[in-house]
Amino acid sequence: MFQIPRGTRDFTSEEMQKRRYVENSMRSTFQTFGYREIQTPIFENLELFTAKSGEGIIDEIYSFNDKGGRNLALRPELTAPTIRMYVEKLQMEPKPLKLFYFGNCFRYDRPQKGRYREFTQAGCEIIGVDSPEAYAELIAMGYKVLENSGLKKIELNIGNLSVLSAMFDVIKLPKDKRKYMVPLIDKSQFEDVLLALQDFGIKPKDASEFLEILETTDLKKIKEYVKADKTAKDELSKLENIIDLLKTSFDIKNPKLKMSIVRGLDYYTGVVFEIEAPELGAEKQLCGGGAYDLIGLFGGRNTPTAGFAIGFDRTILALETEKYKFPSLDLDAYVIPYDEKMLDKSLEITKNLRKKGKTVDLDLMRRGIGKSLKYARSINAKNAIIVAPKELENDSVTIKDMITGKQEIVKIKNIFQKFK
Ligand code: HAM
Repeated sequence: MFQIPRGTRDFTSEEMQKRRYVENSMRSTFQTFGYREIQTPIFENLELFTAKSGEGIIDEIYSFNDKGGRNLALRPELTAPTIRMYVEKLQMEPKPLKLFYFGNCFRYDRPQKGRYREFTQAGCEIIGVDSPEAYAELIAMGYKVLENSGLKKIELNIGNLSVLSAMFDVIKLPKDKRKYMVPLIDKSQFEDVLLALQDFGIKPKDASEFLEILETTDLKKIKEYVKADKTAKDELSKLENIIDLLKTSFDIKNPKLKMSIVRGLDYYTGVVFEIEAPELGAEKQLCGGGAYDLIGLFGGRNTPTAGFAIGFDRTILALETEKYKFPSLDLDAYVIPYDEKMLDKSLEITKNLRKKGKTVDLDLMRRGIGKSLKYARSINAKNAIIVAPKELENDSVTIKDMITGKQEIVKIKNIFQKFK
């Protein structure tokens, strides 16, 4: 009768088990890097998201008027909300300020595998520092959050938007034409980049040279290409430093230079990076981030900011594609009273095991041993505890190992010991 809204998903208990497991792993990695968790509201004033990107972004945003006539939006991401919170109440905090978050986001995207209208991001922002080691640590953390979740096949690419801008200067592409190039570069449609540049009047030789630099991983070549631009040269030296640090001090094996990383959002300024899971195909981008500028626009005192967000749902998909073995949702024990008279003792055993942190369920339907054992198997109980009069005379119960089928009689006071 009713259907779930397009682009949203329900999660079964098996899926939630996986999601919580990955979330816990990610949270602990953020914490090992000294980041602290924050939370912001699911909706914000619409203007927070249009301030930088303009009205054009409204097409992608779930926005609405509330009963007081305010223009609100379900958050499409968490960077702008985090910076709003920072400007409102955290500006006096000691620097650097390292914040992380988990949260569902909403985008009016065209749904497909790995692309949803409601999805979850795990992300972070670092405020008040822009040393190469700060960037290296940030990027390394993005990589480690994914690696520690269990992923093996991921690739890290790093670029720089001021270098890309200097590259456009070299071929003298007018500023108003650059925005047309961005989506083509973003999707690595290099043939189309070439054609578009020629359409904009760039000489074929210049266009193909531009393309070569866009695709090269050779830092020297890029440096030579933009040598007239002091900012770009400095940014490239910094990039070189970041990449060295990633390899030597953060154990990241293969960080790649990639000038074609442009990022979709409008607030990025310098260093940008992405981490992909190539096996996911079209929606392979797991993580994206970089240095950006929003504080000034939101009325705060300018200070450097950088961060990233990981697509949580895509991380789960990537783990499934790699056939990662998630821990299953087991119960330590299922308690079965032989008959109604055994109920009180069964409840007591259950209560005591739960008090000690064991996961325990018991037969609430009075359905007898045979059916209860079948049910215990269906909910992955590792053991069944059968409480019956004969054993109870000796303060004992029968414990059946549901995996091996072995049964033994155990004193009630020793049950917990057995589960240790
Ligand atoms: P973003 O690249 O727009 O960056 O999103 C980050 C990640 O969220 C993507 O790499 C992708 O894995 C996931 N994602 C995006 N859209 C969807 C969708 N419709 N369905 C499923 N997953 C999706 C940001 O949002 C920036 N705020 C990141 C950042 C933080 N930059 C600096 N600080």
